[in-house]
Amino acid sequence: MALFCRTAALLLKPGALSSTLSVARQYSAGGQYEYILVEKRGENQDVGYIQLNRPKALNALCDGLMLELGKALDAFEADGTVGAIVLTGSDRAFAAGADIKEMQNRTFQECYAGNFLAHWNRVSTIRKPVIAAVNGFALGGGCELAMMCDIIFAGEKAQFGQPEILLGTIPGAGGTQRLTRAVGKSLAMEMVLTGDRITAQEAKQSGLVSKICPVDQLVSEAIKCGEKIAANSKIVSAMAKEAVNAAYELTLAEGNRLEKRLFHSTFATEDRKEGMTAFVEKRKANFKDQ
Ligand SMILES: *[C@@H]1O[C@H](CO)[C@@H](O)[C@H](O)[C@H]1NC(C)=O
Repeated sequence: MALFCRTAALLLKPGALSSTLSVARQYSAGGQYEYILVEKRGENQDVGYIQLNRPKALNALCDGLMLELGKALDAFEADGTVGAIVLTGSDRAFAAGADIKEMQNRTFQECYAGNFLAHWNRVSTIRKPVIAAVNGFALGGGCELAMMCDIIFAGEKAQFGQPEILLGTIPGAGGTQRLTRAVGKSLAMEMVLTGDRITAQEAKQSGLVSKICPVDQLVSEAIKCGEKIAANSKIVSAMAKEAVNAAYELTLAEGNRLEKRLFHSTFATEDRKEGMTAFVEKRKANFKDQ
């Protein structure tokens, strides 16, 4: 396995992240964001699009950025026209890590009392499907952020890593848990204990990502996937997501029982009736999210 050494941590060091502020600023009025770009995409404008936008800091995940990301996700969750969400960064970096400057002088007491990084969890609790489109670096918190999403598409030059160990700490937003579940123990241990990165190809082989795309087609492929998802019943998609996620939390018997209950629940929806009726009548289903 061709793993690259050490350089990941360099990207996480404050010096390499430019001198741009790490202080969370206030949102400006009118729902504008400072650290992210937010819009609706797709032919029917039914895919929520969020682009991390701190280019000088390689999208280091400062507190302000994560708060804005949570706000944007809340807005898409509440928007009945949005059926899926795409989260991406730049061609160079999905996100190169957490903001190390913000952490440098933090004490244990501050971390524990403030439940540091707990609010990152919003990404993993949203009920609408989220696709991470990863070009460039997904390191540390960036890798963890991608893994909180439901589907990961990688650009050909993407690199994934958990280099926290090189900074004298360990992943704190699910890196040791989600990576291990995704790629297995040996590779997860190797990455977490050495800080070495894996390429998009290695990420595909190990099951971390489901698709590799040319760099310049990555976002449009992710939007296309989002459009396919958004064309289905939103309420049934939420049930499908809940059922798949349960596979990570429950025993097989409990998971199968939950799946059965959710499957039965789809029969309470008008969309299930419409879907099967359209199939029988050999026409396209017209889901109403009811
Ligand atoms: C952290 O503390 C050191 C020593 O007091 C100081 O030199 C440094 O500027 C501080 N870092 C930040 C980001 O505030």
